[in-house]
Parts: sequence; C-alpha cells; structure tokens
Amino acid sequence: MSDDPLPPPPSTPAPGRATARTAAVIPAAGRGVRLGPGAPKALRALGGTPMLIHAIRAMAASRAVSLVVVVAPPDGAAEVRTLLDSHALPERTDFLVVPGGGSRQESVRLGLEALPPGYDIVLVHDAARPLVPVDTVDAVIEAVRDGAVAVVPALPLADTVKQVEPAGAPGEPERVVATPDRSLLRAVQTPQGFDRATLVRAHETVTDDVTDDASMVEQLGPTVVTVPGHEEAFKVTRPLDLVLAEAVLARRRLNDGF
Ligand code: C5P
Repeated sequence: MSDDPLPPPPSTPAPGRATARTAAVIPAAGRGVRLGPGAPKALRALGGTPMLIHAIRAMAASRAVSLVVVVAPPDGAAEVRTLLDSHALPERTDFLVVPGGGSRQESVRLGLEALPPGYDIVLVHDAARPLVPVDTVDAVIEAVRDGAVAVVPALPLADTVKQVEPAGAPGEPERVVATPDRSLLRAVQTPQGFDRATLVRAHETVTDDVTDDASMVEQLGPTVVTVPGHEEAFKVTRPLDLVLAEAVLARRRLNDGF
C-alpha cells in the first residue's frame, strides 16, 4: 500500500471557512423602471415597510450574518442611512451604507470594496428579493462553509423556455431558434454565497455585462453549485409581483398570529 496521503474529498472546507464570518452585500441602487413610476424600487413600501428593510431583515435573520453592507443609489446614501436608523434591526448585526454605481455589477463591486477584513464568506442579495426565508439564506451559507466557492439557490422552471432571434422593435414577432431541455434549466435567486477571495477575483477579472455574480465566477473557472431555492425568494420586478409580495406578507402575519 502506498504511503502517499489521500487527496482531500471535494467537500473538505478550505481552512477556516467552516467557522468564517459572513457578510451580506445588498445591491439596492437600481431604479426599478419596470415597476412603474415612483421612488427607487428598494424604497417602495411592502406592508408599510420599505422593500430594502425587508431584504436587510431577511439577511440579518441568519445568525451567521454579522455584517450587512447596503449599496444605496449613488446620490441616496444619506437617505438610506436615515431609513436604517428609523427601523428596528437586530443589534447583533453591523450595518454599512455605501453609494452604488450605474450597473448592478458596479454596485456589488463597490459593496465588496467597503467590506472590512475578517469576513471570508460573502452573500450577495438583491434588495428586490425582500421575502427570502432564513432557511434559504442558511442553506447557502452552509454550502459555502462545507467547501463550495460559489453557491446559488435555484428552482426548476415551470415554463418552457424558447431561445429567439430578438426582434427589431418591441412587440414584433421573434423567430424561435431553439427550445432548451427544460429539465436541465434552473431559475436562480439570491442570496448567492461566495468564498470572498473568489468573488473579489471574479469582479476584478470579468468585465462582460452579467446579470448575476455566480456567472462571473463561472467565467473565471471555479465550480458553481446550487442549493434548493424558495418560491418566496422571487424578485419583485413588475407591478403584479407587488401584489404577490403583499399576499405573502399577509399570510405570514396571519400565521404569526397563531
Ligand atoms: O435590475 P435588476 O432587477 O436586475 O436589479 C437587481 C438588484 O440590483 C436590485 O436590488 C437593484 O437595486 C440592484 N441594482 C444596483 N445598482 C444598479 C442597478 C441595479 O444596486 N445600478
């Protein structure tokens, strides 16, 4: 028998990651034009409380999260700081507010730059997903602690998806070019969880336009894995999503009452 040491199993956590401190970065600098006219999306009220406060509470609800970095609209950091000061938030969590940028990607990068040392696991969570349950947040953190460098909550698709040749103008018919096998597709949500050094490297290296952070890590090379997402982690994008969010909140209030 060889005396060579066996390679570690793939799930072996990087040294220190099993006990690493976790911070959450919340990009909240978008205007949310698809939601219709009004305040920036993150500041719209749900059940009387701004969407951003729901999202912050959802991150702080995890006992593993000890810092939340909120990325405010570029000219709205003072307003967001005042908002945080006027709502009850857990005392065991620290909060930072920084101004964001012109794209989601830039806003996340500015949030990462504001992270103090000592947080080796980073969650990135859209302010536009205010109702993600704490179990989903904890499942993402757990998977990073167990050794994954990038983790996304994911759900199977209900709809069949078509790839099209985009039309010249909105509303014009588009030519369908392919129907990907739905069983191989997932809709991904946030919070997405990362080994901090990997995410920082991805943001330093990848300059393409992307719609989530995990895809930057994919471009870099390391493996991204999924954990089960949750239907209540949906993104509030269009007016109908506000109706759904209010209904979820009403159901929670009713359940909490018993
Ligand atoms: O536009 P989209 O719905 O993809 O935005 C996802 C998240 O990114 C939202 O929480 C939004 O506030 C944030 N965002 C940002 N900075 C931008 C654009 C979007 O922080 N410039």
